[in-house]
Amino acid sequence: TPRVFSGIKPSGGLTLGNYLGAIKRWVDMQSPDMDNIYCAVDLHAITVWQDPPALKAGTREIAAGLLASGIDPENSILFNQSQVPEHAQLAWIFNCVARVGWMNRMTQFKDKAGKNAEKASLGLYAYPSLMAADILMYHATHVPVGEDQKQHVELTRDIAAKFNSDFGVDFFPQTEAVIEGPGTRVMNLRDGTKKMSKSGDSDMERINMLDDADTIAKKFKKAKTDPDGLPETVEGLAGRPEAKNLVDIYASLSDMTPEAVIAQYPGASWGTFKPALADLAVTKLAPISDEMKRLMDDPAEIDRKLARGAQKAREIATPILEKTYDIVGLLRA
Ligand code: TYM
Repeated sequence: TPRVFSGIKPSGGLTLGNYLGAIKRWVDMQSPDMDNIYCAVDLHAITVWQDPPALKAGTREIAAGLLASGIDPENSILFNQSQVPEHAQLAWIFNCVARVGWMNRMTQFKDKAGKNAEKASLGLYAYPSLMAADILMYHATHVPVGEDQKQHVELTRDIAAKFNSDFGVDFFPQTEAVIEGPGTRVMNLRDGTKKMSKSGDSDMERINMLDDADTIAKKFKKAKTDPDGLPETVEGLAGRPEAKNLVDIYASLSDMTPEAVIAQYPGASWGTFKPALADLAVTKLAPISDEMKRLMDDPAEIDRKLARGAQKAREIATPILEKTYDIVGLLRA
């Protein structure tokens, strides 16, 4: 059976980018014919400084966001990474398989470490190795992610292949990144050349899943655009990253293609399209954020759900880690 694994870092709140690039697609992918495993990757979050109480709150917010969006904890496994210590154990093995040169090519490390890479944590550098462990811990076959995670999934394939070849086994699978649809690269609302992220300087550049209706409307209204409105065809979006982004967001929220969105609003002014987009976003997000808030009022219940998920995850992870240790020659007496 196909097995899906994916994760989100609990660092800062959830954004529309997380929703369209990941969560919404995970919800749509759930099926009884597949194992679905979703994780709040708290060990990844601490590769940069996190305020401890905020980290716990952020982990619960992710759980609430996934549950409110429609991840069904009866059929999918939902947990936080640190409660399954096998991830960190497998990551160590992969640290010994992956090469320093591979890590040096990771664009996300370069972006996050900035000019002063000497001051970055060693964990940030080894981040992709832990991510490979998350995925391969379950022998996952499919990893639905946004465009920005593509290079990390490719590295996961390299680690699996090198492990198999170093030890002469056919143990870890070649996992596929699943990056499909118009929502896999949601851009910053103030600068269409940068991705929307939870850590950007200004809150106006992103939509948060917990934003209220007025805030969502205001952010779309102030979103950067060029003076031309919508084109008559999608070709007219070429070289217009901000315009393309708003059309892509509309398409992704409404399960339409960008072509169909343009066909519905050919040549529309921003004064027409932006309010329509804001209404659509509020219609889709308000029920989710209401439910998130309701769930977050009962943190103990969220914690119980995460603990149960972790238990189910460990049932899969433990035998795979045991086998890995055996292959590597680590004595288990
Ligand atoms: P993170 O927490 O940055 O983001 C979680 C998911 O949301 C997607 N995403 C976006 N998609 C479209 N447009 C955007 N602006 C946008 N911003 C974020 C990300 O692509 C991701 O799918 N390294 C991962 C977490 C991780 C992981 C894993 C993912 C750890 N282990 C194993 C998959 C499998 C990360 O930092 O995601």
